[in-house]
Amino acid sequence: MKFQLAPSILSCDFAQMAPSVEQMMQAGVAWIHFDVMDGQFVPPITFGDAMVRGLRKLGPTPFEAHLMTQTPESHFSAFRDAGCERIIFHAEATHHAHRLCGQLKEMGVGCGVAINPGTPVEALIPILPLLDVALVMTVNPGWGGQPFLPECLDKVRALRQLRPDLEIEVDGGIDLTTLPTAWEAGANVFVAGSYLMRGDSVAERIRELTEACA
Ligand code: DX5
Ligand code: ZN
Repeated sequence: MKFQLAPSILSCDFAQMAPSVEQMMQAGVAWIHFDVMDGQFVPPITFGDAMVRGLRKLGPTPFEAHLMTQTPESHFSAFRDAGCERIIFHAEATHHAHRLCGQLKEMGVGCGVAINPGTPVEALIPILPLLDVALVMTVNPGWGGQPFLPECLDKVRALRQLRPDLEIEVDGGIDLTTLPTAWEAGANVFVAGSYLMRGDSVAERIRELTEACA
């Protein structure tokens, strides 16, 4: 599977969002990852589709919305219309993940489902054929800068066995040490937030992470 980096904007300086995203785009990342939090599914509130719309004009890099929200389906159209090529919702946020995957496909949007550290991988098995990406959370959702939970990699291994062709994304605590362990386990899409923003140069950190799996 192709290595893909999906930097999260959550740890960016919100007063300097555009320059940070431009650096990510110029560094050639595969996705820009928008961490949408509604204060209900997780305690914090981050931003809505207006953030996507505002950054869309910066360049062609695909955008994915990670909806950490209740009733994710109520946000699908807004984030598609704002410029997201892919929408990832949480299995824990709905009784109807199968129906919502179908809805995204009908809308012509890439479809992803995320599972929290406390959710068994079995939650994804009935809908695996519908997914463009499976997102395995490697932290509990809601905040950047948390420690990586290595036990979540067992889910990555199980998913890779079940669907060798699937995009498998890991999200949370990704840095130069943890990324290779997730790559070895079978993940190929990596969300990094705080690690990129802690260094002197976003571009340099993106290069480091990319080379870690070269
Ligand atoms: C957490 C978000 C993650 C987070 C990653 O709820 O889904 O995308 O921003 O941040 P780091 O890389 O700092 O763990
Ligand atoms: Zn995320």
